[in-house]
Amino acid sequence: MDPAEFYTGIVPTVFNVLRSTHFSAERYRTFIQGHGSPALELGCGDDGPFYELAAMGLDLEGVDSSADMVRRGRERLAAEGADAAVHHQRMEELKLDRRFASIYLAGPTFNLLPDDATALRALRAIADHLESEGAALVPLWIPPPTPTRQIGVMQSARAGEAIARSTVIQEDYDTASRTRTTTIRFELITDAESIVTDREWIIHWYDPHEFQQLAARAGLESHFITVDDEQVEAHLYLQS
Ligand SMILES: C[S@@+](CC[C@H](N)C(=O)[O-])C[C@H]1O[C@@H](n2cnc3c(N)ncnc32)[C@H](O)[C@@H]1O
Repeated sequence: MDPAEFYTGIVPTVFNVLRSTHFSAERYRTFIQGHGSPALELGCGDDGPFYELAAMGLDLEGVDSSADMVRRGRERLAAEGADAAVHHQRMEELKLDRRFASIYLAGPTFNLLPDDATALRALRAIADHLESEGAALVPLWIPPPTPTRQIGVMQSARAGEAIARSTVIQEDYDTASRTRTTTIRFELITDAESIVTDREWIIHWYDPHEFQQLAARAGLESHFITVDDEQVEAHLYLQS
């Protein structure tokens, strides 16, 4: 399956009930306050900072590569009475009719771009959509291997009337290509049916120096901010 289609079918439902990490909107709100609007989130999904910021009435747009996420996101905005556009686009093929003062990814969504060539296209698309004085925020994350004791262990939770399950089946952790490929079994079980799908979750990473070199090829200057032990934030500006 194409990595940009990972969050489709039952995966968003299972992922949302089992996810343990939620990113606070605060750091993105502060970033937008500092650099201005309009703002754009790449990989906005159907949850997280984008929806909190949209509820605050910010001049905000989002894009996501998953048609299911886009549908779910638009339904949520309509239900919450929020006014923000969600586009069905891939960040590496971004084509919007305006430029943005602030562009951000919430959490390590840039890691979902499976290789350097795709990441470079995304960085070029970011450069093409930034206002001249604008800035982009890209969280960088170097994932650890999944601990062996967690492989084969099922996680389970209720999703309304259904049971959602996920199990890591196996993992390939390749430092040479900076890529972790985890095969995960997702299950959604109701009285009527049981849907099972196996997906490869690809996480491709950069250290700040590697990222800086790639961003420079896209005409972007990088500044790094250490957020915590696991995450560094790249702030990108158009090269002068
Ligand atoms: C981990 S989810 C995060 C969603 C949301 N930002 C949040 O904080 O909950 C990552 C999202 O990025 C989207 N995505 C993955 N690859 C993408 C790509 N190449 N272009 C745009 N969106 C992408 C996925 O469909 C998914 O909705």
